[in-house]
Amino acid sequence: MDDIKGKVCVTGASGFLASWLVKRLLLAGYRVTGTVRDPGDDKKLAHLWKLEGAKERLKLVRADLMEEGSFDEAIKGCQASKAYHSYWDIRLYLFLICYSQQAEILEPAVKGTLNVLHSCKRSRTLRRVVLTSSSSTVRARDDFDPTVPLDESSWTSVELCEKLQIWYVLSKTLAEKAAWEFCDEYGIDLVTVLPSFVVGPSLPPELCSTASDVLGLLKGETEKFQWHGRMGYVHIDDVALCHILVYERKDCHGRYICSSRVMDNDELASLLSSRYPLLPLPQRFERLNRPYYEFNTSKLTSLGFKFKSIQEMFDDCIASFVKQGYLSFVQQ
Ligand SMILES: NC(=O)c1ccc[n+]([C@@H]2O[C@H](COP(=O)([O-])OP(=O)(O)OC[C@H]3O[C@@H](n4cnc5c(N)ncnc54)[C@H](OP(=O)(O)O)[C@@H]3O)[C@@H](O)[C@H]2O)c1
Repeated sequence: MDDIKGKVCVTGASGFLASWLVKRLLLAGYRVTGTVRDPGDDKKLAHLWKLEGAKERLKLVRADLMEEGSFDEAIKGCQASKAYHSYWDIRLYLFLICYSQQAEILEPAVKGTLNVLHSCKRSRTLRRVVLTSSSSTVRARDDFDPTVPLDESSWTSVELCEKLQIWYVLSKTLAEKAAWEFCDEYGIDLVTVLPSFVVGPSLPPELCSTASDVLGLLKGETEKFQWHGRMGYVHIDDVALCHILVYERKDCHGRYICSSRVMDNDELASLLSSRYPLLPLPQRFERLNRPYYEFNTSKLTSLGFKFKSIQEMFDDCIASFVKQGYLSFVQQ
């Protein structure tokens, strides 16, 4: 099977999204090189070594986004076979809260992306780079018609991000723009995946910030979702499958919004309350002055891609919280 699928590389392999992607790639028969900052951290990486096929086809190597040339070795390691495919899922590791300091988030996002792309440029066998961007790079603007769903042609306004001080959104937007400029200049085949808020089981035992936000909501906290307001949601498995699809399909190009459904926080809380009556979900959120929007995901669905429902993503997420001991048993 390895001979058919070849080798791929996933950066930041221990993270929430990346771990699930590694799982899916191994199940699909790929040989995977994952980059992590500390390959000796057995506790942090145990969930990866437990994946089906990991012992035979997973290799973890050290790389740091902020160290120049750090990713060269991982790329080199992917150049062995003739049937080689180099696959880069560049992750930016920056799902920070919106009011983080500007400098803390912007510089690593853009610099880290370009650092990995420089390593890609030095590779002679690289086939395609798949960059995990975010649907937030599409929707933060104040000049669109709310009756027309936003598609991949839409770009977040840098000026609006600065005005509202939404540094995470700005960092993702600038990083994706920088990636497009760099790849255009050096002829690198880039495809970007733009997930909305990712929900689903967490393979790493430590919860990332999005998973912690969801856990908070399920325990009755309002603060984070109050701020998120209206948002798109997508199952973690769909995000991984989308990365693999756009890597494998030669005809894929450009950006792909990956989002199952956009909902207001009130609507989400009421749906979850009726599905999980024992959970102390918030009943009401203060309505912030945010524009209504929908996403047009036809670029992805026209390839035959089918999104899992909101119910499925929260059922799977809640089951995993219960299994990991973050929630006690909740009857559905
Ligand atoms: N989660 C979402 O809802 C969502 C939605 C849209 C887009 N995204 C994007 O998807 C990507 C992953 O998000 P996530 O939620 O999966 O994040 P996550 O779980 O927090 O992943 C963080 C990973 O980043 C690695 N990392 C941090 N600093 C690093 C550095 N300097 N050099 C190398 N690696 C570093 C860490 O790995 P080590 O500590 O092992 O090195 C960690 O495993 C991000 O780019 C995010 O913007 C996420």
